[in-house]
Amino acid sequence: MSQTIANPPDIHLGTEYFGKPVNRVDGPAKVTGAAKYAAEFNVPDLYYGVVVNSPITVGKIIKINSAPILRIPGVVQVFSHENVPTLAWRDKNYKDDIAPGGSPFRPLHEPNIMFNMQPVALVVAETYELARYAASLLEIEYEATAHQTNLEFKRKDGFHPGKEKSSWTPPPPPRGNPKEAYEKAPHQHEAEYIHLAQHNNPMENFATTAEWLGDGKKLNIYDKTQGAPNVQKYIMNIFGLSKEEAHVVSRYTGGGFGSGLRPQHQVFMAVLAALELKHSVRVSLTREQMFSFGHRPHILQTLKVAADDTGALQSLQHETLSETSQFENFTEMVVNWSGVLYQCENVKLDYELAKIDVYTPMDMRAPGAASGSFALECALDELSYKAGRDPLEFRLLNYADTDLNEKKPFSSKKLRECYHQGAAKFGWDKRSPTPRSMRDGDLLVGWGMATGIWDAGQKKAAAKASLTAEGHLTVSSATNDIGTGTYTVMAQIAADTLGLPLTDVKAVLGDTTLPEAPVQGGSATAASVGMAVQTVCKALGEKLLKLAQKMDKSPLKGIDFENVQFVDGQIRANEDISKTVAIKDVLAASGEDKLEAEATASPDMLKQAPYSKHAHNAVFVEVKVDEELGTLHVTRVVNAVAAGRIVNPKTARSQVLGSVVWGISMALMEESVMDHNFGRYMNHDLAEYHIPVHADVHDIDVILVEEEDDIVNPLGIKGIGEVGFLGVAAAIANAAYHATGKRVRHLPVSLDKLL
Ligand code: MOS
Repeated sequence: MSQTIANPPDIHLGTEYFGKPVNRVDGPAKVTGAAKYAAEFNVPDLYYGVVVNSPITVGKIIKINSAPILRIPGVVQVFSHENVPTLAWRDKNYKDDIAPGGSPFRPLHEPNIMFNMQPVALVVAETYELARYAASLLEIEYEATAHQTNLEFKRKDGFHPGKEKSSWTPPPPPRGNPKEAYEKAPHQHEAEYIHLAQHNNPMENFATTAEWLGDGKKLNIYDKTQGAPNVQKYIMNIFGLSKEEAHVVSRYTGGGFGSGLRPQHQVFMAVLAALELKHSVRVSLTREQMFSFGHRPHILQTLKVAADDTGALQSLQHETLSETSQFENFTEMVVNWSGVLYQCENVKLDYELAKIDVYTPMDMRAPGAASGSFALECALDELSYKAGRDPLEFRLLNYADTDLNEKKPFSSKKLRECYHQGAAKFGWDKRSPTPRSMRDGDLLVGWGMATGIWDAGQKKAAAKASLTAEGHLTVSSATNDIGTGTYTVMAQIAADTLGLPLTDVKAVLGDTTLPEAPVQGGSATAASVGMAVQTVCKALGEKLLKLAQKMDKSPLKGIDFENVQFVDGQIRANEDISKTVAIKDVLAASGEDKLEAEATASPDMLKQAPYSKHAHNAVFVEVKVDEELGTLHVTRVVNAVAAGRIVNPKTARSQVLGSVVWGISMALMEESVMDHNFGRYMNHDLAEYHIPVHADVHDIDVILVEEEDDIVNPLGIKGIGEVGFLGVAAAIANAAYHATGKRVRHLPVSLDKLL
């Protein structure tokens, strides 16, 4: 936790909390169980809905025989395409804020089956056990037709998606002459890199408790999501409800990693049943069912890279084929970053999709970049050996000082410092370059490294601030905290902006009655909501100053807002800090019992447009391999991240620790294995879908590299949720090669492939 703020950001002077490792303000609620998740709201008189999934992959439902289970006492209703289309789907084509191009899947709308485990019915009963039992008895007759779920068979069917989603940028056109430069270069490397689908698997399963309020169509919808407003808009449009009727609450989210960006089908199911039955209904998905609605796509990537004798990159070609569903074109940025990260004049980037019979893929931590960086960083590692350069030296030689994709300077880029500080901490200079040349007793030791890049984004967001006469400040916004620390950084920024102690500040999130903010995602929430909080607190400060100036013999009369500071619960004149008014006295004198403000903060497009805005990292990894057993352990990781100003080095470090653990997971364990005969992921549980346990995780060192940036936003925040994940999987694969001399280009780097 070495981060110090050399140059305090513009938060109207206070820096009591900004940049400090403040404890999570929601920590006590989480560890005591006071923080409630969607399935934990015990509303009275609850019915339980259990989702029934299709065992076939493509075809249609011929008949659903609900009668036998409806005769079981306590079974309330069975919803399916036979009775639902007239009840829902007011706007059949409604797309949520995150939807890719195409036609969103409409649960229980048609008899058609488009993917395995498609939700086909909802069985509602008075208890969960009964609903689950009845669901197991539901007779459904299907007619299966042929399916294709294997991307390998679609290699020739790739197509270029259109720009159907504003957040997706197609790869830039080629530059220079990549083909010719490749042929001419003395050191060439070409290979294919692959990973299968991966599933997000947050701790909290998807669940919705729809509380029927006994008043027309009014519902409280407790949902597991990364964006209550996105869910609200979806429900309003599908069911024709007003904002007041569809009140969505999601104060705590037990992880999302992208899976909660889009409304998932359980919220549709719960709301449908609650409205129809005029009763509160809960629908929780099982862990198995967590594999039924989206994943990081299976992707095939070809890298052709070449360097000259000085180690300078001559050609970089990165081409990919990703799976998508038959009904939507899921796009993510996989290759674009490859044209930004390194200095190379001859670049060709290509991104294609192919349709197979799966559910639409979805965002999963650092979507696109995670896949792309794995392939790129492994390929460059391979090329560095061919060119006879140390992998770190090779990256420094090809360091990009400008963004060659967009032909723009970087708003800031401290990647070089990431390399230097990370390497120093790791002891990279003691690396012996030859594979299989380092040992620890019987174990082979491998050192590998890699780099990552992610966007620094800010989105339009609103917040509200409310100050009581006792001096308690509440700041609120509708977006979610998915475990990232949003509550905490909001409270820090608010406390500093108004010079209040953190204990007097409360942050509230995840409720659609609050000012609108985007889904929590893209590592953009700290910047977006942070700016909204700062803006609204300043607005409240201006109101306070005006009231203070109206007080009898006010020492602040005639002083502009720009010339006062908010410190220690007081408003002070900058020129003479003995001129003060206590904030509590202001409210007392005004006779108001509270003071409120609401504000929206938007990115300063004009200021940002000339720049390329990114966060970076450099990862150094040590692995030890038992050659006889083929087992590999990641014994040491140093991850140096430059992500602008760090609001809270403690929560930021936790983000990076989580990233590293997930990187270990991606590199060594995760893979959703499809049995293509059935078209189904066979390891759809946490017994067989492997993720790390404590014994898999050893030393992790996080360096938060100091980086000032006044372009990205006035607070200088770039976001750290995703960048720390990048490069980790590649660095591990590279270390595995250095240890063993064996390249594994198909993740995960598992024992069978290493042996
Ligand atoms: Mo993140 S994959 O934008 O939740």
